[in-house]
Amino acid sequence: MIRSIHAAQRLDSRGNPTVQVDVTTDKGTFRSLVPSGASTGSREAVELRDTSNPALGGKGVHTAVRNVEKAIAPHLIAQGFNVETDLDKIDDFMKELDGTKNKSKLGANAILGVSMACARAGAASMGVPLYEYLRRQANVKTPYIMPVPFFNVLNGGVHSGNAMAFQEFMIAPVGAESVTDAIWMAAGVYHELKKVISTKFGTAATGIGDEGGFAPPIVHPHEALDLLTTAIANCGYTGKVQLGIDPAASEFFRDGNYDVGFKDKTSNVKTPQQMRELYQSLLSKYPIVLLEDPFAEDDWQSWIDFNKECNIAELVGDDLLVTNVERVQEAHEKKACDAMLLKVNQIGTVTEAIAAAKLAYKFDWGVFVSHRSGETTDDFIADLVVGLRTGHLKSGAPCRGERVVKYNRLMDIEAELKAKGEGFSFAGSRFRKAQKL
Ligand code: PGA
Ligand code: ZN
Repeated sequence: MIRSIHAAQRLDSRGNPTVQVDVTTDKGTFRSLVPSGASTGSREAVELRDTSNPALGGKGVHTAVRNVEKAIAPHLIAQGFNVETDLDKIDDFMKELDGTKNKSKLGANAILGVSMACARAGAASMGVPLYEYLRRQANVKTPYIMPVPFFNVLNGGVHSGNAMAFQEFMIAPVGAESVTDAIWMAAGVYHELKKVISTKFGTAATGIGDEGGFAPPIVHPHEALDLLTTAIANCGYTGKVQLGIDPAASEFFRDGNYDVGFKDKTSNVKTPQQMRELYQSLLSKYPIVLLEDPFAEDDWQSWIDFNKECNIAELVGDDLLVTNVERVQEAHEKKACDAMLLKVNQIGTVTEAIAAAKLAYKFDWGVFVSHRSGETTDDFIADLVVGLRTGHLKSGAPCRGERVVKYNRLMDIEAELKAKGEGFSFAGSRFRKAQKL
């Protein structure tokens, strides 16, 4: 039984306001903090902001906080739901209460905060860790599969001040022995990368972007990939640490073409065909195992064409799918990609995020769990990736508190499973099909 629900406005990692929710049951008080994106998909559930109030750039969340306290809490508590067994009913109830298709009335940030805190309360009530509670919610099999973490160590796009159009360049230690080993390998590469950048561009170039990755003065994707392969080779990890890219292409899609010079206003426009050729050439030269949002959210034809010709990298839909079962279904019918990015705040409840992941599994797709560029110190997604057995996640660089809290939690989970003698393995190079292992 839920006794009380309270919310407050707190800081996110960019210094913007976000929603914090506390759900109290007879087992204690359980907290969540809601993340926020910058390169958001246009079909994401609506994040309610106090746009008419100029304070904090109109980004306040006082309305969402009030919605939790006044519009959700009394009605939800009155239902007498059991957090142990009723998370889907709780989430459904809030959806109905909101009544819109995109949660624009109460705010996805208000609803998600309650949903996540209720999941934590449910786990405590059951007396199990959050990852186990989420596994049971999703009806996913054991043994646990620990994920390959993808670390965004070079930031561009709308996440940094440099001129690089592509948003994220990730390193993936697929050849590690365990998630803990993978995290320390990535930390090693991260420090080496800092040296490589500093030698080439000077120490002033080692500043970081929103997700903790470096943002050196580079423009072209091959420059980023050369920096990464150099750092990886210097660490002796060639072959063991592979690469992923998230161009976040919706951000530079203009009138049917892609303006990869959008950040320094040089206007370097490429046709979809030229973009496909660019990706193919990168795939042939570098060990890229994952490509996310290479095309814009409405450029279906490019997705479809590229999905036919891309047989190396996992093709992940982020803005394209927005963790929404309808978009996942549509992309499956169109054969547009073969993996779904899972961001809980894109859809606004834990239950719906699980449903999207399950549908992706049904289509034999990969599922890639993700943080947001505006993050918090909440480590919920670390438990989610283990509970849903998705085999991979991204949480930024091995740097900055809001990023490392997820990686640290994964190391804690691994240590806990080991101590308990629970069966588990590391996804490694099988990360795309972890749910089948
Ligand atoms: P966002 O970026 O959180 O700013 O949307 C992350 C991503 O595009 O994957
Ligand atoms: Zn993305």
